[in-house]
Amino acid sequence: MARETDWMKGTGEPGPLPSADLQMDIPHPSRMYDYYLGGKDNFPADREAAERAVAANPEFRSTARANRSFLQRAVRFAAEQGIDQFLDIGTGIPTAGNTHQIAQQVTPSARVAYVDNDPIVLAHARALMADLGNGPTTVLQADLRDPAAILADPRLLAHLDFDRPVALVLVAVLHFLRDEDKPHAVVAELLSALVPGSLLILSHGTADFVSPEVRDSIISVYDKATAPLVGRPRAEVTRFFDGLDMVDPGVVTVPLWRPTETPDEGADRVGIYCGVARKPVN
Ligand SMILES: C[S@@+](CC[C@H](N)C(=O)[O-])C[C@H]1O[C@@H](n2cnc3c(N)ncnc32)[C@H](O)[C@@H]1O
Repeated sequence: MARETDWMKGTGEPGPLPSADLQMDIPHPSRMYDYYLGGKDNFPADREAAERAVAANPEFRSTARANRSFLQRAVRFAAEQGIDQFLDIGTGIPTAGNTHQIAQQVTPSARVAYVDNDPIVLAHARALMADLGNGPTTVLQADLRDPAAILADPRLLAHLDFDRPVALVLVAVLHFLRDEDKPHAVVAELLSALVPGSLLILSHGTADFVSPEVRDSIISVYDKATAPLVGRPRAEVTRFFDGLDMVDPGVVTVPLWRPTETPDEGADRVGIYCGVARKPVN
């Protein structure tokens, strides 16, 4: 288990590599995000692409950290509201303060199902679960673009009780879906499986605060990766919450969602919007 311990400290080399094809020569969003966050679970192609994105927009790293911090505050909020089941799609390579760790600080028995389509995420997450004894946490390899397959997965249905509220966590993942993947319909389909009182925790990148030149540079970096980066304007992000009751403060940039410290100057122009909303009782 030494390798898993290494990556938990953020000092390990890319971890257990079972039979999966990791396509090391193609930048992967999970490994680029790991690089922005200061992790070591990435390869030269990921680092080169991430450096190009940072060169185009030097705020990329701090934006990734602000997003991660939102995820943690929102999961804690949900757990403190009594939610003890989490469906976290677009999990990312595990790093400090993962969803299950935050939720289980509040509710030790909280159950978390992780879903990601990148095999390296699965390899690391499975290793972490082995450390944890594979109790209230599980991980599935599946694609957000096929929500019906996720919802029908027998391992998911065995792990979470869909007759009770679930927090659906879609943090920094929907911007990897093109318009033709119908991201709003995907979210609506996932929400339709959840009972009233369930929460949607969502964040999404935007190009609202950068010049067209910077936007195009970032797009061209991700066009060579395994998924494109599709920044959406505020109105498009807000539309993901249609039919739900927004939790205060509504849709804001990530540093401004219930901050625990005074936000830095310019926090209202950080390029990821976020929000939390509750499925109402009809
Ligand atoms: C930027 S990371 C976000 C990680 C974590 N949610 C966070 O915010 O800290 C995005 C993750 O979404 C995953 N992802 C991208 N497209 C996906 C898809 N179509 N289905 C499932 N996961 C996807 C990537 O593999 C990556 O691990």
